Amino acid sequence: PLSALPHPPGRIPILGDVRSADRRRPTQHEAELALRLGPVFQRELLGNRLVVVGGADLANQTLDERSWGRALVGPLAQLRELAGAGLFTARSKDPLWGQARRILTPGFSQSAMRIYHDAMASVADDLAAKWATSPVVDVHQDMTSATLEVIGRAGFSCRMGLLGRQDGAAEGTEQFLDSLGRVLVWASESTNDVPIVGTVREFLGARRRNADIAVCRNFVQRIIESRLQSGDHGNTDLLGLMLETEDPDTGDRLPLHNVTDQVLTFLAAGHETTAALMEVALYHLAAEPISADRIAETELDPAPLTYEGVVKSRQIRAYVNECLRLWPPAPGFFRVARTDQELGGYHIPSGRGVFVLALAAQRDTAVWGPDAHRFRADRFTAERITAGSGKFFSPWGAGPRSCIGRQFAMHEASLLLATLLSRFRFRLEKSGELVMRERATLRPEPFRIVATPRKSER
Ligand code: HEM
Repeated sequence: PLSALPHPPGRIPILGDVRSADRRRPTQHEAELALRLGPVFQRELLGNRLVVVGGADLANQTLDERSWGRALVGPLAQLRELAGAGLFTARSKDPLWGQARRILTPGFSQSAMRIYHDAMASVADDLAAKWATSPVVDVHQDMTSATLEVIGRAGFSCRMGLLGRQDGAAEGTEQFLDSLGRVLVWASESTNDVPIVGTVREFLGARRRNADIAVCRNFVQRIIESRLQSGDHGNTDLLGLMLETEDPDTGDRLPLHNVTDQVLTFLAAGHETTAALMEVALYHLAAEPISADRIAETELDPAPLTYEGVVKSRQIRAYVNECLRLWPPAPGFFRVARTDQELGGYHIPSGRGVFVLALAAQRDTAVWGPDAHRFRADRFTAERITAGSGKFFSPWGAGPRSCIGRQFAMHEASLLLATLLSRFRFRLEKSGELVMRERATLRPEPFRIVATPRKSER
């Protein structure tokens, strides 16, 4: 039975594992527990049991789509209040999920990145211009701005005005960002609440949250309305694709309320995660200028980067993958057993959900070797890590509900990093360990770097 699974020491009757709960850094704490308790274990709070899978072999087992599916629980379920039946929060059975996925998949293919390349490059240029005039960089703030600008410009042809230039920028961006930030924090924190505390907190915060959700939805509705009024019926961005494309299976277009759900989903799902990834990468590059110099000298050309240049930048892609391995911005995902399963000798009944902790499984020394906890990007240049390699690497989730924005995020992060690396050397303003905080994503605590133009050094 599940009750036989190992659990943290110090369990109290009824309350459960409250003594060992870490509300601020729950998944990092679970990754530590995985080292002590083994590849599958349980945590219990007031009778709510979470089964955590942290071993690579068992995690790989849960990726088999015939036996396991995706579960809409935890922060995802909370986010339905914001993003309704957007791709991320729609139930798999909802016909709108399949319809939207079919309509949007071409817009997220590798070749579609050619279309977004210039918009992404314009953000990289604005960022570089900003760093050239203010060399002490608040990485957290600039990556939030850059990733939102990218999804705004590439996805919806909408400038957010976050990187200095205000011309033609959407109105109300700051207020939208504040509200979106609060809703994301609420969704992630509330899932770590002890049940009764959670209900009280929920009740007290409901008014504020509803107001924040309304601000977010109104902001997005204004973007959509201005597109509809402009009479521009091109589909060279995600918004155009959603408004203009018929579902190849049903011939239907997405209803407007669902387009609002999707735009919000992309703004929310697309920026925090990619910003977290960029911050981890910039931290390592600033902490190890030797690797940064090597990449800049052997792989990068100071001329503007082309689409092909980004796709071919092997070392940068390897660097990005190693960041995703050690610090997956989505530290885990939920899977549900479709039929009775056995996991590590324990019986998992049909319908039972488990939390696959990528943060732990991607560092499992049994498959990644004794230096699994070390940052070493050449793992990804030396060998092709595929689903069949046994090395659990799943920062994008699994199966039909895995990340649709994967190529988008890879192209964006590689392009931004390549541009910044080719133009600047960076160092940490204060040396120190990378400390990760957990809100909607696993993201570094804010830090600063100092950026010096490469040209002026020569
Ligand atoms: C789903 C990670 C960037 C849009 C997911 C999932 C993961 C993930 C793990 C699956 C969640 C689950 O199974 O519960 C990431 C990471 C990113 C990133 C690590 C960046 C480094 C993006 C971007 C976009 C995006 C840039 C859009 C522009 C989505 C959507 C889904 C999703 C719409 C839900 C797909 C579906 O259920 O059909 N992402 N993501 N993501 N992601 Fe991403």
